[in-house]
Amino acid sequence: MLTAEQNEELTQVAPGTPMGELLRRYWYPVAFTRELEEFPVRPARLLGEDFGTDGTCLDQPAEREETNFRDRVRAVAGQVRELGGLVWAYIGPAPAPELPRFDVFVMDGVRDIGWTDLPCNFVQIMENAVDPHHTEWLHGRFFEFMARHQGFDAPPSFGKKHVKVGFDAFEWGIIKRRVVEGASEEDDDWKIGHPLVFPYNMRVGGANIEQMQIRVPIDRTTTRFMLYTVHAPVGVEYPSQPTVPDYQIPVYDSHGRHRVDYVEGQDMMAWVTQGPITDRTVEHLGRSDIGVTMLRRMFKENMSLVARGEDPLGVYRDYRERIDLPCEKNKFDSGAVFAIDFIDRASSRFSPQADALKKLHIKAHENRKAHENGKAHENGKAAGG
Ligand SMILES: [Fe+2]
Repeated sequence: MLTAEQNEELTQVAPGTPMGELLRRYWYPVAFTRELEEFPVRPARLLGEDFGTDGTCLDQPAEREETNFRDRVRAVAGQVRELGGLVWAYIGPAPAPELPRFDVFVMDGVRDIGWTDLPCNFVQIMENAVDPHHTEWLHGRFFEFMARHQGFDAPPSFGKKHVKVGFDAFEWGIIKRRVVEGASEEDDDWKIGHPLVFPYNMRVGGANIEQMQIRVPIDRTTTRFMLYTVHAPVGVEYPSQPTVPDYQIPVYDSHGRHRVDYVEGQDMMAWVTQGPITDRTVEHLGRSDIGVTMLRRMFKENMSLVARGEDPLGVYRDYRERIDLPCEKNKFDSGAVFAIDFIDRASSRFSPQADALKKLHIKAHENRKAHENGKAHENGKAAGG
């Protein structure tokens, strides 16, 4: 449980607030490269600020027209760069740190970006990222319930019982681990796990699907949610992508109710229905919420670092070609079937590329099988001879 003051501090994004100052030490995606190819100018809003290209103050509607106050003030100039089909902005103090070249943004594969804007503060989304148990209930049990009512098959990968969860702080944030029923600490879900990438991302994946879940604080109660996915099955050639495709994912159905027939639709329902800003003064954290407590402490510690003039977690100043993040390959101990579950029952189903992506994974799987059979055949011949 937090006091009203602590909740206020944790959810601020404005300049001059401890959290706002911390968040201004990072780069954020503010547009798709595709958008600037279509039209060269795009206004952007980030951390509650609307910015021009050189820090010029664009408008002061509350000031009197005849004064030149607007021309006399100038914000810290923003910087913009392109990486992985996204346009990234930095609006913090100079000099800007490096724009992190995380693995998903630079790796080979077929890119696919789903996105939407959500009417809630980004911290409640990040808190969900350190709650492994929700997978079993929100994407397991609840999915089965909806499937029975709406007449579809719920994906079996998500409903496995959690035997154990664990959290480790590391250089980019928090690694989240789990052991599901039937698996052990030797399996990927525990041995490797996957990270919350501080302060606004989560890296997930499995079965040759690699994803960064991005939560950009546009302002205090609006978050741009992006699913930056790279489909990278081995043993198959990737089609070229002159433009990275993006598409809006649905939050509500035609009745205005949350659409909960896919994985991220269920997540968004859980985030948004907490209200624009979760009231943490009435919460009751249990033993399974240890990840949430750890994340809040991490925010607090890094606010203090910034206040002392130091760089917070994940801010660095030497160029790195590629930053590999730990992420399990055999997700939920479900093997290759996870790829198909993922495309059929997660946000990728709304992708204009959904069928092509499924074919890509199936083709890769067949190629690998044919390769293995060929090898077994050769070994058999060698043994026979
Ligand atoms: Fe989820």
